[in-house]
Amino acid sequence: MSYQFSEFGRHLGGDSGISDLMVDLGNALATGGPDLKMLGGGQPARIQEVNEVWRRRMEEILEEDGGLDRAITSYDPPRGNPRFLNAVAAMCRDTFGWQVGQEHVAVTTGGQTAFFFLFNLLAGRMAADGTRRRVLLPLVPEYIGYANQGIDGDLFHAVPPRIVESGDHEFKYRVDFDNLEITPDIAAICVSRPTNPTGNVLTDGEIRSLAGIAREHGIPLIIDNAYGVPFPGIIFHDATPYWDDNTILTLSLSKIGLPGTRTGIVIGPPQIIRALGSMSAIAGLSNPSTGQQIILPLIESGEILSISDEIVRPYYERKAALAREEAVRAFDEAGAGDWRMHVTEGALFLWLWFPGLPCSSAELYQRLKAREVLVIPGHYFFFGLPDTPDWPHRHECIRVSYAMEESDVRDGLRVIAREVAAIRAAS
Ligand SMILES: Cc1ncc(COP(=O)(O)O)c(C=O)c1O
Repeated sequence: MSYQFSEFGRHLGGDSGISDLMVDLGNALATGGPDLKMLGGGQPARIQEVNEVWRRRMEEILEEDGGLDRAITSYDPPRGNPRFLNAVAAMCRDTFGWQVGQEHVAVTTGGQTAFFFLFNLLAGRMAADGTRRRVLLPLVPEYIGYANQGIDGDLFHAVPPRIVESGDHEFKYRVDFDNLEITPDIAAICVSRPTNPTGNVLTDGEIRSLAGIAREHGIPLIIDNAYGVPFPGIIFHDATPYWDDNTILTLSLSKIGLPGTRTGIVIGPPQIIRALGSMSAIAGLSNPSTGQQIILPLIESGEILSISDEIVRPYYERKAALAREEAVRAFDEAGAGDWRMHVTEGALFLWLWFPGLPCSSAELYQRLKAREVLVIPGHYFFFGLPDTPDWPHRHECIRVSYAMEESDVRDGLRVIAREVAAIRAAS
């Protein structure tokens, strides 16, 4: 029997490039031997000191009067637990001075669901006049998880960045404001900061300019703060957190170490927040309570800020520095020719660029997989662009996670360097 699917079903229930890649990665992981190096995922590291905090909180929840009920046996209101919403709002006021009340805060089932709701709320076919609107990505490469979220098709319009090279082996993407045009079909502007896949942190100036442009055109600026401050704080570079009454800021408990609780937090204009609450009620009645209850007293006491600042950030900063040193050593030793890495200002990834690579990043991915090193080929992150055959850069990059075991990262980088050198030598 073969059933017919709706447009929604076709877009979300069918195959997509990224779902094929995930299946491929999953199969490689399942069938791979003990030497396999998984440098492709977005899984945060399991940091022992942080895990001890979760263990302590789980024990406290079991002992607290009504703790179990709040954590697992009750439905929260669709927008989130009221005490949790108030705690998040108070943290934003006290830490950053933002004028945020509980009416500006909603919980979702992870950041991913927040984006699914936000993109389809603001873009797609408009209720008022039937026109189609899209979300502007002012800089790609951008988070692969957005790419297939439109319920009735493509939702994005992306602008290639300016590439600023520095030193022998570094570069940084900058927003190309000269080519950033806000046409009437643009519904919102969206950036991840720090950016997955590159570890880029948009500068304060870039963010201020984007916020100004968004306000001028009456559209919101969405900032995806999955790796940023106040938590998990995986940001190694001076950057001021930004929010104003036209900004939708998303946070997540995943990268501080609780991805299994599926807890996303959105801070935005009350009209948007109410809509997210309705969408949560329709799609899922309510959101998971466990993450909110684990983290609630840590937000109220401010401990979440010290965990981020004193444990999580230094942990990843050290891992990033080691991975970068290893990359320099590995590529130089292998004689891999021209190579560059994006400045690592935050998040969990090295973004490597091989200018003039004689094969595509998709082919490089396959060749590395055959050598038991799993990465993510970079072309997936360049979505929302018109065909740009004259821009080879989008097929010359790969993403490498450094959140894994240091020996895996080091050995994986050596395999990548040798493979790139071999590809160049053979061409
Ligand atoms: C930039 C970015 N945004 C959002 C998400 C979604 O995370 P979650 O749904 O676990 O909160 C991720 C996950 O990797 C991400 O990298």
